[in-house]
Amino acid sequence: SKGTYEFYMLKEIDEQPSVMRKISQTYFDENDDVKVDPKIIDSISKADRIYIYAAGTSYHAGLVGKTMLEHYTGIPTEVGLASEAGYHFPMMSKNPFFIFLTQSGETADSRVVLKEVNKRNIPSLTITNVEGSTLSREADYTMLLEAGPEIAVASTKAYTAQIAVQAVLAKALGEALNKAEAKDWNLKHDLAIAAEGMQQLVDSKESLKEIADKYLIKSRNAFYIGRGIDYAVALEGALKLKEVSYIQTEGFAAAELKHGTISLIEKDTPVIALINDPATADLTRGNIQEVVSRGANVVTIAGKDFAREGDNVVLPTINYYMSALLTVVPAQLLAYYASKDKGLDVDKPRNLAKSVTVE
Ligand code: F6R
Repeated sequence: SKGTYEFYMLKEIDEQPSVMRKISQTYFDENDDVKVDPKIIDSISKADRIYIYAAGTSYHAGLVGKTMLEHYTGIPTEVGLASEAGYHFPMMSKNPFFIFLTQSGETADSRVVLKEVNKRNIPSLTITNVEGSTLSREADYTMLLEAGPEIAVASTKAYTAQIAVQAVLAKALGEALNKAEAKDWNLKHDLAIAAEGMQQLVDSKESLKEIADKYLIKSRNAFYIGRGIDYAVALEGALKLKEVSYIQTEGFAAAELKHGTISLIEKDTPVIALINDPATADLTRGNIQEVVSRGANVVTIAGKDFAREGDNVVLPTINYYMSALLTVVPAQLLAYYASKDKGLDVDKPRNLAKSVTVE
């Protein structure tokens, strides 16, 4: 039940620290060793390429998963939109392995791809929140998100759970492949850092309400920008904001703005900038200057190690590969308050259903 919450979306945002702890309990044993069904690890470790397919928010979680899987396992990983692959099947490597990310386990677009995967006898894993769901039954293997039921149409805790479970998979697979990056990675510690950081962010949610009220609710449009993993989170932040607040929002790779889209920046256009990528933080600051000088209202969400005077939200320090777990929380809260303070039905945006069972 919603308990004292007006909307499930906020309840589910607030539950994310405990979801991180649940995933940690589920996927680590009493010796703090990562624990994944050995049959899954055995099967994926034979792959020369991993293909992740998903839709919407789950696709955005896959973009983060790709980065982690490649870094910790060394296996090249592709991410695609299920709806595009169903009828234009990607070119296959010799030994492919498919991962389906799906909160509901019922998304029709993903089911079409899995059917084709099964026809070709390619091994597959579904990462889902719903035990016994169709995509779980039809794939060879399942890993559960352990996020608890997600009721709000806009996905929040399933997104962070998908990232955390992909991290578990990357750790277990990388260790099996004897990768130093994976063996040296204290993921259990990182999950605890993520849980604490999320708690800090949800405890200071009032500041996001103020930003939403000041910069977003009166605006017709908005932008999210970032590079690296921040770009993946920019896409998710934009989807979240537009789907629940109806403010047309685009997520952009920060450097791409100047290749065209910057012509849309006017006085007071909100631009939310994400700055957590050590390799590009300074470059993104440059891109922020470009939109500030065209009159944009810039909201900066920066990791503690990259923060500057005047940043709107400062995120606790975390492993870059896990940073999406924290960066997304203020983005979720901005979407929530923009919707609620416009008087909209946060949990049931118009035209949307929780599970999309048509192609
Ligand atoms: C957006 C959202 C959708 C779903 C998408 C896939 O907030 O919830 O974009 O992520 O419909 O759904 P699942 O993960 O159930 O396959």
